[in-house]
Amino acid sequence: MSQSGFNGIQPAGIHRLAGIAYLPRHNVFRHSEEWMVEIDKANPIVKRALDLGVNFFDTANVYSDGRSEEIVGELLKDHRDSVVIASKVRLSTGEGPNKEGLSRYHIIDQARKSLKRLKTDKIDLYQTHRWDYSTPIEETLVALNDLVRQGMVNYIGTSSMYAWQLAKALFTSDRLGVARFISMQNHYSLCYREEEREMIPFCKDQGIAMIPWSPLARGFLTGRYKRGGKADSPRYRSDKYFADRFFKPEDFDVVERAEEIAKEKEVTVSQIALAWLLHKGVCAPIIGATKVEHLEDAVGSLEVKLSSDDMKRLEEPYKPHRIIGPLPLPEPAS
Ligand SMILES: NC(=O)c1ccc[n+]([C@@H]2O[C@H](COP(=O)([O-])OP(=O)(O)OC[C@H]3O[C@@H](n4cnc5c(N)ncnc54)[C@H](OP(=O)(O)O)[C@@H]3O)[C@@H](O)[C@H]2O)c1
Repeated sequence: MSQSGFNGIQPAGIHRLAGIAYLPRHNVFRHSEEWMVEIDKANPIVKRALDLGVNFFDTANVYSDGRSEEIVGELLKDHRDSVVIASKVRLSTGEGPNKEGLSRYHIIDQARKSLKRLKTDKIDLYQTHRWDYSTPIEETLVALNDLVRQGMVNYIGTSSMYAWQLAKALFTSDRLGVARFISMQNHYSLCYREEEREMIPFCKDQGIAMIPWSPLARGFLTGRYKRGGKADSPRYRSDKYFADRFFKPEDFDVVERAEEIAKEKEVTVSQIALAWLLHKGVCAPIIGATKVEHLEDAVGSLEVKLSSDDMKRLEEPYKPHRIIGPLPLPEPAS
């Protein structure tokens, strides 16, 4: 396995990857938000993505209660052999213990449902969407391995967790002789770099492909929000996590530095933010395009070259953030 790529599933141009999907309102059913796009709006974005060589599409069973998978399936059904479709399982799909988690029951039930919604007979990359503290990792990995053996899934990957949890999963796979996670979908951007402490060096050491989510900090790293200015966008109005995660003075320091460098290079701020990730060894930033122009802008980042001095300047204003992504350990029962 190459250090930066998926084992055997990368079509030409591994960096020509981007995900178009819907951000979930976890645990909220039949919920629709202003910034989520329906099939009519998604169609031209997906068409343009394919024209531009984007070949990786990320979704999850919980995104818009399954609607995201249906749209991805419908729009990609005529291109099935030239794209990589990734989906996820773990978060709650309803009431009760069998409607969430990484038990054998839930994984197999959800994989069948995802395949149906995606209109395909295999998911290229099936990811666990957070750690499950109540299921032994052995049970999870054996169930995932069974999906691989049955041809329902090509590769398995995972998403935000603590580095010790990924280490435990990998050594368990090796101990059992079953499929290993080949990718990590974590939160990583110029505005959130806590993953550089443990997870990223570990992924590089283990040859795990990094495909971070919210690489533009939900739009904050595009420069469209100004210090002291009025924040107003579909995402800002309706994404309850957004305002709380960024918009601190130190975040504006980072975005203003990116603006400075973007101006010097005559490119956009988002292109600088994405180019920075690619220069850090990320395989494919998973962007959330809600307009064709977002996608075109993102693809332009592949041409942006950053020197080591540019990288240093971009990183210099960063201040540590509270941890975002991994599910914290449950409180012990009293
Ligand atoms: N594994 C996980 O736990 C997890 C968690 C979160 C996300 N994800 C995945 O990651 C994907 C991307 O997440 P994200 O949507 O937060 O990513 P993002 O790329 O950081 O943010 C996307 C938002 O940025 C704005 N934007 C994008 N390009 C722009 C441009 N060129 N100019 C101005 N604004 C621009 C848009 O805002 P407006 O819509 O307001 O215009 C868009 O909604 C999701 O769709 C999902 O597949 C996974």
